[in-house]
Amino acid sequence: MTTGWCEAPKSESTLQVLHWWTSDSERKAATLLAGRLADEGVYWQDVAIPGGAGLGAGKVLKSRILSGNAPAVTQAIGISIRDWDDLGFLLELDKVANDNKWNTSFFPTVLALIQPRKHVVAAPLGIHRINTLFYNRKILTALKLSPPENWDDMVVVAAKLKTAGIVPLAQSNESWQVTALFENLILAESGPAYHRELFVKQSVQAVLDHRLIEALERLRIMKSWMNAPVEEKTWPNVVRQFANREAAMMIMGDWAKGELNGMGYPTDDEFSCAAMPGTGKYHLYSVDTLSMFATNFQRGPAQEKLARLVATPSLQTDYNAIKGSVSVRRDADPARMDSCARASWSKFAEGVSVQAPSLVHRMATDESTRDAIIVVIHHFFIDDTVTAAETQKKLAAIFHTFNINNRQ
Ligand code: GAL
Repeated sequence: MTTGWCEAPKSESTLQVLHWWTSDSERKAATLLAGRLADEGVYWQDVAIPGGAGLGAGKVLKSRILSGNAPAVTQAIGISIRDWDDLGFLLELDKVANDNKWNTSFFPTVLALIQPRKHVVAAPLGIHRINTLFYNRKILTALKLSPPENWDDMVVVAAKLKTAGIVPLAQSNESWQVTALFENLILAESGPAYHRELFVKQSVQAVLDHRLIEALERLRIMKSWMNAPVEEKTWPNVVRQFANREAAMMIMGDWAKGELNGMGYPTDDEFSCAAMPGTGKYHLYSVDTLSMFATNFQRGPAQEKLARLVATPSLQTDYNAIKGSVSVRRDADPARMDSCARASWSKFAEGVSVQAPSLVHRMATDESTRDAIIVVIHHFFIDDTVTAAETQKKLAAIFHTFNINNRQ
């Protein structure tokens, strides 16, 4: 019998969760998680900050922490986990990790991210593949084109699409989306070792390499395959452009697959996915994780419940199917995944030699270095008078400065 009266949840069983999941499929995935958490008597108080790749959320999180108002839980990913851990803010989750055998259940790369120093300080949700090419099967088939596998294929396919009056590539000129395309080109051109030299080590020598110039020049060629002018669109709007057949292909992280599926486009019907041309052997990854702030110990049990829940096999399967990502667990069943997810999970499982940590998604370096690189690449992209050589010099200067800082 309902009384129409509802007991307010106790503050220690309410968790404020800060994140940047605001698209339809992202919301659906977060709602699934919040619902499962509610079944365990813990309430998810949502703090969603718009802005793809967490451009806004990172800033809000920083200012909330500085003003002594940290949320109980946050989507902090990649190197940000290490940086917040170094300051001693994060709740240690070693007990949850040991009790649930995280050590043997997760991929080693995922383990390294959630345990940057001595303690486990984050719970992993899923792995996104950033080097994903989405293509419209009907458009390509009608023109007797196969999905491009390398740069030369892509040049041919783009030219034929243009002749047929079809925009080859859906794309936004938002800075993080442009830089994501650029790091895909770096990976395609030169593989994970060079990608790491550049974005993890920030080696000045790597910046001065001719491969950087080639990737920049290709980025500019790709611009001619997009709508002119390239507009500033949120990523769900780019997905909509692709879904509405206003462009034949799209290069984006596989959260776009979650969004397409949610819009009523199942995988391998109208669209399919492949690797970004030239990167079929590699996995450019971003791992989504939740960290907890150790500011109120009464909330500890609720925070631990959330950490335990996100890594369970059933949550991993259901959540990642909506989100477009894949399980962080080595015991996941690829037979239950669609073709896109299966390719991503199997590739990631091949290990660190094929993996490249995404710059844009904070897997490679700290937030300030990443932001500085994004500004330079974006400037090159939007202003055609800026040369590749000038851009190379600017990047070299940034790397030089950050290298000096890191040595101090
Ligand atoms: C990534 C995040 C994804 C997705 C994407 C688009 O950084 O890992 O979960 O939200 O940004 O905003």
